[in-house]
Amino acid sequence: MRTILFLSLAALLLGSRADMTEAEEAALTDPTAECAYIPYPPVDNVVSSFPPTGTPVAAIMPNDAAGQATYDQMKANIPNIVPKGVNGTFTVNISKTYDPTDPDCWWTYSLCTTPKLAGLNPDIVAVPEPRTLGYGFDDGPNCSHNAFYDYLTSQNQKATMFFIGGNVMNHPLQAIRAVQDGHEICVHTWSHRPLTTLTNEQVFGELWYTIQLIKLVTGYTPTCWRPPTGDVDDRVRYIAQQLGLVNILWKYDADDWMVSAGEYTPAQVDANYAYLIANVSAGTFDTVGAIMLTHELDNYTMQTAVEKYPLLAAAFDVRYHIVPVGVAYNKTQPYVETNYTQPNFEQYVAARTGSGSGSSGAGGNPGSQSTSKTTGTSAGVSLWPPFAIVLALLAGSFMIWL
Ligand SMILES: *[C@@H]1O[C@H](CO)[C@@H](O)[C@H](O)[C@H]1NC(C)=O
Ligand SMILES: *[C@@H]1O[C@H](CO)[C@@H](O)[C@H](O)[C@H]1NC(C)=O
Ligand SMILES: *[C@@H]1O[C@H](CO)[C@@H](O)[C@H](O)[C@H]1NC(C)=O
Ligand SMILES: *[C@@H]1O[C@H](CO)[C@@H](O)[C@H](O)[C@H]1NC(C)=O
Ligand SMILES: *[C@@H]1O[C@H](CO)[C@@H](O)[C@H](O)[C@H]1NC(C)=O
Ligand SMILES: *[C@@H]1O[C@H](CO)[C@@H](O)[C@H](O)[C@H]1NC(C)=O
Ligand SMILES: *[C@@H]1O[C@H](CO)[C@@H](O)[C@H](O)[C@H]1NC(C)=O
Ligand SMILES: [Zn+2]
Repeated sequence: MRTILFLSLAALLLGSRADMTEAEEAALTDPTAECAYIPYPPVDNVVSSFPPTGTPVAAIMPNDAAGQATYDQMKANIPNIVPKGVNGTFTVNISKTYDPTDPDCWWTYSLCTTPKLAGLNPDIVAVPEPRTLGYGFDDGPNCSHNAFYDYLTSQNQKATMFFIGGNVMNHPLQAIRAVQDGHEICVHTWSHRPLTTLTNEQVFGELWYTIQLIKLVTGYTPTCWRPPTGDVDDRVRYIAQQLGLVNILWKYDADDWMVSAGEYTPAQVDANYAYLIANVSAGTFDTVGAIMLTHELDNYTMQTAVEKYPLLAAAFDVRYHIVPVGVAYNKTQPYVETNYTQPNFEQYVAARTGSGSGSSGAGGNPGSQSTSKTTGTSAGVSLWPPFAIVLALLAGSFMIWL
């Protein structure tokens, strides 16, 4: 009797969501359970120091001395460019009234990626390695991404993940999984608004709080970002560059987000993939590779990524040349902290060449060479049920023995 009592008590305690670890969360397969609120004290305890999720960051948070000091240091030199709207909404007719010579290098207007202002780095729109795809996904972490991340792990495939701060706040364990799996994490702003419509302080806040939260949750400070909808100009570029962020745009677009928005049919997304793949065959990337915009956004976009992966793998040099953007640039230290490394391009490809069909396990595990510890393979496996049973049994027998 007692054994049963203590067994269920212990299981109850261990199974309570408050104790859920990243590995336990990563083992969930029911999307509803994945998306349910999971208490996570390191984040729950700091919610009030971060802006509310889902709305544009209004200002630097009260008592954020570090944020204020960082902003004060750059603000006098922020280019004097008037915001192109308010709080995420463009000013009516702004694209008609805007100077057609594009003095701000405004991507949304002209696809400009070479800043007009001296001292600003050009945007990244492609990868330097031939016949290579810089593989990345926007708008995560999606709460129900386990099937997608499991698939990437099964293919021994890493990607660049552009995370929204509000999503990291709501689903921290999912963000931790991304790092555990060896993906490269970049910033995709706090509330996903077009940044050229925000004030200087708001742009700063959208980037700063996402950086701070990713650092708090994963332990690593990102050094790359992607502007929502690509909306960037020299004012926004300046602020991001001051925060140590490299801007990664794209040249190819799957438009995958538009399907759940009801603006596109899946056939149109298929055509976008076919276009990219046709360009591989046509030799378009024989000197410089490609970046295509795709999303972690929802089930459709993640499922599409899974279904298209074999096609991309066949097109881009039999899957070895699908790499996180940073890997294609030999960026072996993707974070500010120097104790995390990812392979350079040569190492990444060599490890995958050794992995044959790319199924998990074999040959090398590029992308998770963190000096410390776990590789992606451990993340998908939950150790807790047997552990809980053993503990429950121990507890039970201990009580009986007493
Ligand atoms: C912008 O939105 C924030 C909330 O995110 C609000 O506090 C602020 O008043 C808004 N600003 C304007 C100019 O509407
Ligand atoms: C915006 O464009 C519309 C249609 O071209 C025009 O009717 C309207 O006057 C414009 N508004 C402003 C403020 O320029
Ligand atoms: C994640 O994907 C699910 C399934 O498509 C969707 O219901 C949810 O809104 C998405 N968003 C986030 C933030 O997880
Ligand atoms: C890419 O492929 C499309 C469709 O096949 C073709 O029309 C286009 O010219 C190609 N672009 C380049 C740069 O090769
Ligand atoms: C999408 O949803 C279906 C149905 O729930 C599920 O079987 C599938 O695994 C999901 N795909 C991804 C990539 O999450
Ligand atoms: C990355 O390193 C390889 C050699 O390992 C070199 O061929 C390539 O040019 C480097 N790429 C960049 C962008 O530096
Ligand atoms: C990496 O270094 C940071 C300090 O820069 C430290 O806080 C963290 O614990 C280290 N992480 C690992 C996995 O060694
Ligand atoms: Zn986005």
